[in-house]
Amino acid sequence: MFLYEKKLQYPVRIKTPNPKLASVIISQYGGPDGELGASLRYLSQRFSMPYPELKALLTDIGTEELGHLEMVGAIVHQLTRKLTDEQIKTAGFDTYFVDRTTGVYPTAASGFPYSAASMAVKGDVLADLTEDLAAEQKARVTYDNILRLSDDPDVNDVIRFLREREVVHFQRFGDGKRTRGSEKELLTKPGGRLTRPPGFVSVRPSATKTPYRAARSGSAPPCPHCSRPA
Ligand SMILES: [Fe+2]
Repeated sequence: MFLYEKKLQYPVRIKTPNPKLASVIISQYGGPDGELGASLRYLSQRFSMPYPELKALLTDIGTEELGHLEMVGAIVHQLTRKLTDEQIKTAGFDTYFVDRTTGVYPTAASGFPYSAASMAVKGDVLADLTEDLAAEQKARVTYDNILRLSDDPDVNDVIRFLREREVVHFQRFGDGKRTRGSEKELLTKPGGRLTRPPGFVSVRPSATKTPYRAARSGSAPPCPHCSRPA
């Protein structure tokens, strides 16, 4: 359950319309590394996360990403209000305008609509947290790219705030991963320390050593695909 607070996490007050810039920033609304994907990723991963503190971390950050989605939407809206016909025609916004007018639609700057294929939920502690660390860095790079393209101080002030939050999220996911032991521990300990359901056969180091030993001693069977010695 969510309670809505009727204010933005950080104020957005843009004085000058700039549809061209809006057509770039929209990528952080519905693009491959945008805030919609971030919120859906974390708020979906949390269901199968076995550790309460990591579940809470995903809920916390996923909820904040929803607040960031709202901020990016506000930026796009404020950059495209009160446009003249001339601005719509000449400012590189016509291809967006013809389909969406000035509605805020989850799409990448390239025009590709939001796709859940751009994010992952694997149901495994290491896989999901590693995905989250990479996702935060990709979002940070996208904000860096927006800052390279924008010279509006009102916009850049908000984008810098959002960029900083991605760095904080990256650090928090890193801390969360460290609190639950090493990768070796997570991958090899049976029972409650695994994310796998009861009865699932765990992959232990001993299970992967045997073929290597056999290969080294020359007794390994040939590769079934090419018949070469293993
Ligand atoms: Fe984030």
